[in-house]
Amino acid sequence: MRWRSRTWPVTLRDDSLRDLPGGALVLRPLVRSDRDEWMDLREHNAVWLDRWEATIPEARPGTRGAPPRRPAPTFREYVRLLDAAGRDGTTLPFAIELDGELVGQLTVSSITYGSMCSASIGYWVSEHVAGRGVAPTAVAMATDYCFEELGLHRVEVNIRPENAPSLRVVTKLGLRDEGLRVAFLHIQGRWCDHRTFALTAEEVPGGLLARWRSR
Ligand SMILES: CC(C)(COP(=O)(O)OP(=O)(O)OC[C@H]1O[C@@H](n2cnc3c(N)ncnc32)[C@H](O)[C@@H]1OP(=O)(O)O)[C@@H](O)C(=O)NCCC(=O)NCCS
Repeated sequence: MRWRSRTWPVTLRDDSLRDLPGGALVLRPLVRSDRDEWMDLREHNAVWLDRWEATIPEARPGTRGAPPRRPAPTFREYVRLLDAAGRDGTTLPFAIELDGELVGQLTVSSITYGSMCSASIGYWVSEHVAGRGVAPTAVAMATDYCFEELGLHRVEVNIRPENAPSLRVVTKLGLRDEGLRVAFLHIQGRWCDHRTFALTAEEVPGGLLARWRSR
């Protein structure tokens, strides 16, 4: 895999994927010119993604920490927000491209340094490419970047216990099951339990992508 840049914007590319013969998988920033393709992709996958979509809860009465809720951003605003999050170093908001076609999204979020040096990875792929190893390959590429370029020590993926396809992704990649987090994330309007799977840099000295390729 080649890195194109060490700071945001970052593009990661892999051309030699066993499950994607001849296919090039690219993780790159979303840009304004993706608008029409992105809108089509989201529209075609609305039902596929709906039950896993994160939501923002109402602020608890009497509290004032949460930022005010805003209407959904336009695509242009969305790209600008992702770019700002990438540049402030807390997030790597990648679009996933397979053979030049947008097919999903992988976000490395909650990037923290200090005593923790950790991050959280979330992802989705379009239904029409499901089952081809796109998500595990993308997770392996992003994890290697976090460990080898950002110097992070740990990555985690949080998955609802009923999300069998996503559980397969982390199982195939060999992430450790760290157990259940009760009411961990707000999904589809309610707090939902998640299982946490994690990996530290010491567990994959030769890189996760290399381990995934050689399985
Ligand atoms: C979870 C998800 C990202 C997996 O991506 P992927 O690129 O298909 O991953 P894989 O190719 O490794 O397939 C994983 C499992 O999905 C299942 N699967 C395969 N094809 C499928 C299809 N057409 N429809 C549904 N599930 C399928 C299989 O159980 C597969 O495991 P296997 O390789 O042992 O057979 C994808 O299903 C998705 O985007 N789902 C909706 C959003 C979501 O759940 N995001 C994750 C939230 S934690």
